[in-house]
Amino acid sequence: MPDNPVTKRRTYHISDRANHLSPSGIRRFFDLLASTEGVISLGVGEPDYSTPWHISEAAIKSLERGYTMYTSNSGTPELRKELSRHLEDEYRIDYNPNTELLITVGSSEALDLSMRALLNVGDEVIMPDPCYVAYEACVVMAGGIPVKIPTSQENGFEINPSDVAKLVNHKTRAILIGYPANPTGTVMSRNKLMEIAEIALRNHLIVVSDEIYAKLVYDTDHTCFATLPGMKSSTILLGGFSKAYAMTGWRIGYSAAPVEITAAMTKIHQYTMMCASTMAQVAALEALRSGESSVIEMVEDYNKRRRVILQGLADIGLSCFEPKGAFYVFPSIRSTGMTSEEFAETLLTEEKVAVVPGSAFGKYGEGHIRCCYATSMENIKEALLRMKRFVKKYSR
Ligand SMILES: Cc1ncc(COP(=O)(O)O)c(C=O)c1O
Repeated sequence: MPDNPVTKRRTYHISDRANHLSPSGIRRFFDLLASTEGVISLGVGEPDYSTPWHISEAAIKSLERGYTMYTSNSGTPELRKELSRHLEDEYRIDYNPNTELLITVGSSEALDLSMRALLNVGDEVIMPDPCYVAYEACVVMAGGIPVKIPTSQENGFEINPSDVAKLVNHKTRAILIGYPANPTGTVMSRNKLMEIAEIALRNHLIVVSDEIYAKLVYDTDHTCFATLPGMKSSTILLGGFSKAYAMTGWRIGYSAAPVEITAAMTKIHQYTMMCASTMAQVAALEALRSGESSVIEMVEDYNKRRRVILQGLADIGLSCFEPKGAFYVFPSIRSTGMTSEEFAETLLTEEKVAVVPGSAFGKYGEGHIRCCYATSMENIKEALLRMKRFVKKYSR
C-alpha cells in the first residue's frame, strides 16, 4: 500500500556531525522574541546604523554598470591591494595581496575555512569560555575538539596564559581567540597577548585571531595579534566589514595568513563559495578607501551609549566589568538567583526587553547576560528602566 502522505512522515539520514551540533543559543532565543510585540532588543549583535550611503552607492553604481560577474576566487585584485594597504597603514604589517589575503563571505566564512584548513579529526583547538558561539561549532564541524579555558568577571574575562600552557598537548593545533570579544567586550592587554604568542611559538601552534571588532575600542588601543614579535608567520588574522562599517547584511570579510595556509583556505573556498559577492566587494573597497570618518562617528556614539548602559547597570545594582571594546556589556545576574536563561526569558515576557543568556556562549557565561548597546540611546534608557523594575522584583 502506498504511504499516506498525511500520516507517514519520512525520516532522513542526518550526519552525526550535524546531529551533534547544538543549535545556536542565540537563535533559539530569537524565535521567542519574534513572537512578542513591543520588545526593546539589546539582543542582536549588530549596528543599528545603515551602511554609510557612499558605500551602498558605490555598489549600486557597479550594478548599474553591469558589474555582476564572478570575481577571482581570492577576491578582486583592487580590493586585496587596498586591504593590504589598509593593514599596512593601521598596523605596519605587510601582507602580499596575491598570496596572503583572501576575501570571504563575512569573517564567518574565514573562520570556518581556517578550521577546515588546519584541523585533522581529533585535533584540538584551545579557546576562551565564554566566547562567540561559532568558535566551538566551526571546530566541531572541521572534526576538531574545542578545549575551553574558563574565564570570569574577576579577571576581566581575559584568558590566563598559564591556563593555556597547561592545556597544550601533542594534539593541540591552534589557539582561537577574538579581542575585542563577543560576548564580554574584553580587550586583552598587549602584554598578556605577548604571553599567548610565546606559548604558540614554543609549541608550534597557529593562533587564529578574530579581530572583527578591531575598530570598536574605547579609551584603549587594539593590538593586532599578527604584529607581535614573530607572530605574522603563525597567525591567521580574521577580519571583516560587518561591525565597523555597519555592513552585516553584505556578508563580506577576509583572512590574512601565511602563503601555505591561505592557499589551503582558498582551495576550500573556491569549491564552496567560488568568490564573495561581487557587489559586496565593491562596497568593501569603498569602505576601505573612504569609510574611516563614518567609523569614527559611530565609535564615538557607541562609546556614549557604553557609558550610559554601564552607569545604568550600576544604578540597578548589577555588577558589570567595564568592557573596552565591541558593543556589548556582560553583567552578572547572580543576585537574582535565576539562571541566565530564566532571567532572559522572564525579562522578555514580563518587561519586553530582549537580552541573550550568558550560557549561550559557554558554560562559564552562566550567571551573566549579554546586552548589546548598538541601539538608540532612547531604547537603552527605556530598557534600563524596565530592567531596574525587574531586578528590584526578583533580587534576593
Ligand atoms: C566575534 C565575532 N566574530 C565573527 C562574527 C561574524 O561576523 P561576519 O558578519 O563578518 O561574518 C561575529 C558576529 O557577530 C562576531 O561577534
